[in-house]
Amino acid sequence: MTAQLLDGKSLAKTIQAEIAVEVAEFIENNKIVPCLATVLVGADPASEVYIRNKRQACERCGMESRHHSLSAETTEAELLDLVHKLNRDDGVHGILVQLPLPKQIDEQRILTAVNPSKDVDCFHPENVGLLVQGRPRFLPCTPHGVQQLLVRNGIETAGKHVVVVGRSDIVGKPLANMLVQKGTGADATVTVCHSRTRDLAAVTRTAEILVAAIGKPRFITADMVRPGAVVVDVGINRTDAGLCGDVDFAGVAEVASHITPVPGGVGPLTITMLLKNTLSACRQVVLR
Ligand code: GUN
Repeated sequence: MTAQLLDGKSLAKTIQAEIAVEVAEFIENNKIVPCLATVLVGADPASEVYIRNKRQACERCGMESRHHSLSAETTEAELLDLVHKLNRDDGVHGILVQLPLPKQIDEQRILTAVNPSKDVDCFHPENVGLLVQGRPRFLPCTPHGVQQLLVRNGIETAGKHVVVVGRSDIVGKPLANMLVQKGTGADATVTVCHSRTRDLAAVTRTAEILVAAIGKPRFITADMVRPGAVVVDVGINRTDAGLCGDVDFAGVAEVASHITPVPGGVGPLTITMLLKNTLSACRQVVLR
C-alpha cells in the first residue's frame, strides 16, 4: 500500500477531548448539562450499534443522553407525540431520530416536526435551507466529519475538484453544499455523481478529492481513481466477509495519495460532530 491512511479514529479522540474540555467549562459557567435525546424505532441491529456508540460518546464528553426505544409497530402519530414532547422538554437540547424509520412512518414528516433549534442532525428543511445559504445553524454530522478529516490532515480543498459519488440527503447533497461555500475546508469545485451518471469512471478519474457515499460495497475500484487523489470512503456495508466501505480499499490504496479506512475513517467523526452540535444547541439556549 502506498497511500497514507486518514485515521478518523484517532482524530475523533483528539476532537472529543477538546469537546470534553468545552463541556466541562460550559457546565461550570451555566450549571446546565447538555443533553441529547435519541430515538430508535424498531430493533435494527446496525441502528442499535450506532445509537449505543453515540450515547457512549456523549458520556465520554460529559454530556447527558436520554434514550427512547419504540416498537417496530409504532405509528407515525405516536412518534410525532414523542417528538413534540421532546421539543417542549427544556432539559433536552438535541433530538436525534435514528434513520431509517419503519415503512408506515413518513420520514420527512418526522424530521420536519423536530424543533429546528434542537435538530442536531441538520435534517430539518429550515436548517438545510440555512446551510445552502451559507449561514448554517448546525452542520450535518457526516459531511462535517469529512470536512474536518480533510482540514485537520492539511488537505487543501480550495480550488480543488471534488467528486462526490452519491446524492443522498444525509451525505451527498449536504456535503456538496458545504464544499462549495466560501471558507476553510470549502471553496472547492464540486461534481455530484449518482446512479444515472454517464461514464462514471471518466468523471471520478478527474477528482483530486473523491468521496464515495453510495452504499455499495467496494464500488470504487482502482481504475476509477486518478493517481495521487485523496479518497474518502463514507460507506459502511455489512457483508458476509464483515464490514466494508464503498471503496475497494486494497486496490485503491495503491493509487491514491491518502485514503480512509472502514471502519475507523469517517464513522467516528460523524459521532464527534453530533456531540459538537449538541453542545452548540445547548449554548444557543443559554444565549437566547
Ligand atoms: N442513519 C444513518 N445515518 C444517520 C444519521 O447521521 N443520523 C440519523 N438520525 N440517522 C442516521
